[in-house]
Amino acid sequence: MQKKKLKKVLNKAQKYIPGISGLLGKRPDMYLKDGNWPTYYSKAKGANIWDLDNKKYYDFSMFSAGTSVLGYADSEVNKASINAIKSGSISTLNPPEDAELAELLIKDHKWAGGVRFARCGGESMSIAIRLARAFTKKEKILFCGYHGWHDWYLAANHQYKGNLDFQLLPGLKPLGVPKGLRGTVIPFRFNNWTDFDKIIKRNIKDAAAIVIEPCREGFPEKKYMLALKKIAKKNNAVLMFDEITSGYRLNTGGAHKILKIDPDMVIYGKTIANGIPMSAIIGKKEIMNFALKTFVSSVFWTEKVGPASALAFIKKHRRLKIGNKLKQVGKRVKKIWAKAAKANNLEIDIFGIDPLASFKIKSNNWPAVLTYFIQEMLKLKILTTDKCYANYKHDDKALKIYEKACFKVFRKISKIINSDGEILDKLEGPPKEMGFNRLTK
Ligand SMILES: Cc1ncc(COP(=O)(O)O)c(C=O)c1O
Repeated sequence: MQKKKLKKVLNKAQKYIPGISGLLGKRPDMYLKDGNWPTYYSKAKGANIWDLDNKKYYDFSMFSAGTSVLGYADSEVNKASINAIKSGSISTLNPPEDAELAELLIKDHKWAGGVRFARCGGESMSIAIRLARAFTKKEKILFCGYHGWHDWYLAANHQYKGNLDFQLLPGLKPLGVPKGLRGTVIPFRFNNWTDFDKIIKRNIKDAAAIVIEPCREGFPEKKYMLALKKIAKKNNAVLMFDEITSGYRLNTGGAHKILKIDPDMVIYGKTIANGIPMSAIIGKKEIMNFALKTFVSSVFWTEKVGPASALAFIKKHRRLKIGNKLKQVGKRVKKIWAKAAKANNLEIDIFGIDPLASFKIKSNNWPAVLTYFIQEMLKLKILTTDKCYANYKHDDKALKIYEKACFKVFRKISKIINSDGEILDKLEGPPKEMGFNRLTK
């Protein structure tokens, strides 16, 4: 039964907002269909979210696509953003926090010499691609993984319509993206030596950049990353690390610091200000200087809330060693899944780096099993999916509640699938839509 308030808001959104949400991952159909997902929140604090009826849930799902590792509405980051708003969120003059944040980031990235700020991940990647093309005077981009919705990226599907199937989502149509971009962007598989030989080596002479996340489901071989660095350097291509998801999750800064490999550019986005819009493009001075030779400029890249919040976030992150805490939480979540599966005779695959863990229960209808898991966990007031973005506010109490709920729902799943029961019959709506490929196998 849909709640009255939810129904009212959903009706409006369905009428006027195609897809209901601006983010694919926040469409209710990605969790539960037929109005069975709370969809809207009235408040979010720590690891909790309150729906429109003020019902309180624990968030053990994607934690707003992983934006807020300190927990929602963190008091220190909030204080910095509220002060920034009170002193004027924007003006004809620039916020000095820009310079302070730039200095802090350059100190943390000694190989770099310049920074530009933006507010979203995808737009930052577009800026970085523009600078790399301007700097190298070449056009092709060799890439692996997801890097945003922009033309430069989606154009990959003009060459072969399945190019993005294994990078992002199957069947994406590059509608609205000029066909003239065909052949300008070429995908390769993560940590894959065959693609290194067949794709990277063959195209590197014409490539402006190699774009990659330094870690995805796991870390690549160090030898592989060194080979990327070497071939990029030799051929005047920019080695670009997209740390929009991996940044500030394993350590204070980028995962590339763990690999001990310095790129030519690194891009941080959603994690850098704990959910306040902010992003940073950091790079070698000679590349970043092209920001003046080409044209990259936007009014809201100069507001104050983003840099003030990022400064507060980075300082707190470093002080509390948040990277270590997230790894510990992720490890514990993986253990919970493994123990709950074993206790209930379920075969389970668990993968992903600890702070971005995922699981898959062996069954003949995984979308239906996953939908059932989400449906039953929601009844126990837990928002969940097959991934858990570890959070500082996933404290002992929250983890114990999650553990108890997982054991209970895994037992129900086991009862159905291990007795040849039909899981579809137990669903209160159709199975969910399945999402991105990038964090699942
Ligand atoms: C690795 C990576 N790059 C780029 C993006 C795009 O960022 P945004 O959604 O802020 O535009 C994302 C978002 O999930 C991401 O994970």
